[in-house]
Amino acid sequence: MERSLIILKPDALQRGLMGPILTRLEARGLKFIGLKLMQVSDELARKHYGVHEGKPFFAGLVSYITSAPVLVVAIEGKDVISIIRNTVGATNPAQAAPGTIRGDFGVNIGRNLIHASDSPENGAQEVSLFFNDSELLAYDRSIDQWVTE
Ligand code: RTP
Ligand code: MG
Repeated sequence: MERSLIILKPDALQRGLMGPILTRLEARGLKFIGLKLMQVSDELARKHYGVHEGKPFFAGLVSYITSAPVLVVAIEGKDVISIIRNTVGATNPAQAAPGTIRGDFGVNIGRNLIHASDSPENGAQEVSLFFNDSELLAYDRSIDQWVTE
């Protein structure tokens, strides 16, 4: 079982694209175990994007993610890291394939709509950075037998 943290970034909310983006993830069969609207603080943004500290785009990235509310979603399941990264598309929407979220909804790397964890280790760590245990739900879905053999 892997966990992935999804962030629908401020541009996704401001552009009214929460529904269309969540629909793609949900329709793929992914299981949401946590979901909340929040304003990311400067401290949390710097922690989450710590790996990019010192890069030329870091200041812009922190101000982008803290500029307005975001929707954070925790997803759990087998191979969810690679499944979600494929659905999200390349970091730069200008190069993302049609059919991916970034390829269909974006044009600019600094407004690429969505974050998705890039490894099982980072997924587990990022989910616990954004959610308390009490906000993550364990439950069965009757559709799972039709999603996974
Ligand atoms: P994310 O972490 O947001 O899911 O995106 P990613 O893995 O596809 O890309 P990553 O390399 O982790 O970069 C994190 C975010 O930083 C911004 N960025 N801007 N201007 C630039 O060259 C540049 N490079 C990266 C993007 O918002 C990217 O999602
Ligand atoms: Mg990344």
